[in-house]
Amino acid sequence: MKVIWNSDIVDRSEVKIDPEDRGYQFGDGIYEVIRAYNKHYFYLDEHIDRFFSSAKKIEMNVPYTKDELKDLVNRLLVESGVNTGNIYLQMTRGVSSPRNHMYPDAAVLPMLTGTMTAVERDAVQMEQGIATIVTEDIRWLKCDIKMISLLGNIMVKHEAHKRNAEEAILHRDGIVTECSSSNVAIIKNGEILTHPDGNLILPGITKIVWMKCAEELGIPVIEKPFTLDDLYDADEVFCSSTTIEVMPVCKIGDKVLFKNGPGEITSALQKAYLNEIEKTCGKIS
Ligand SMILES: Cc1ncc(COP(=O)(O)O)c(C=O)c1O
Repeated sequence: MKVIWNSDIVDRSEVKIDPEDRGYQFGDGIYEVIRAYNKHYFYLDEHIDRFFSSAKKIEMNVPYTKDELKDLVNRLLVESGVNTGNIYLQMTRGVSSPRNHMYPDAAVLPMLTGTMTAVERDAVQMEQGIATIVTEDIRWLKCDIKMISLLGNIMVKHEAHKRNAEEAILHRDGIVTECSSSNVAIIKNGEILTHPDGNLILPGITKIVWMKCAEELGIPVIEKPFTLDDLYDADEVFCSSTTIEVMPVCKIGDKVLFKNGPGEITSALQKAYLNEIEKTCGKIS
């Protein structure tokens, strides 16, 4: 299996990770997940921009230009032979030995790795939707950084799994923020509501795409905080992320939202999203 290791594409067996790498020790690093369809990345520039923005927020210097990073991820796409799948690109602050919380000297180079996995679109699940639970947002207050320290996200996802659900919808004091690994939106009386960007949610790239689709379809989108009562009272609910696209929620806890396919607006967004994919990446069979 071919992977990115710093500025090269190498065989996975050649990668050496130091036990004192700060990613390994402190979760001190950032990442991106970018989806490719038909050997073309979808919204690559936006993902690379967010990677740089996350790095800046934690004062980590990216020792590559945006073009160099794009070249590396494109080379991995070709060399991996993957047609439709996800690249996971991660950069840690590198090795600081002996272990020390302080950021290391600027001479210490970050460590970059990237892996590509073939993952087909799950059109059946996109029609059936996902079951969710509601739980407290136990994460820190800088959720806009796409960082590798994901313990809070993992714990709530596990909670969902234990309760036979795929995703956890999170709230802080009754205000819905996002999910363990996706953004969330509700639809009421023909309007879409979703939490505004800021420090409490990840500014989703998929959210940018579906908001553009909604605008083109003439569906109003309001970015403002909404409550758990609003969530339970919604006509439709959907989650969004690079890997699940626009994913309808069929169940919240014990409450069933639909049994026979998503609501009208979610379906329209899914179709428009697919259209957008096909515009950049070619026909999806
Ligand atoms: C916590 C969280 N929110 C939102 C998202 C959606 O982001 P994107 O649409 O850029 O994949 C993700 C994606 O992994 C996520 O982990």
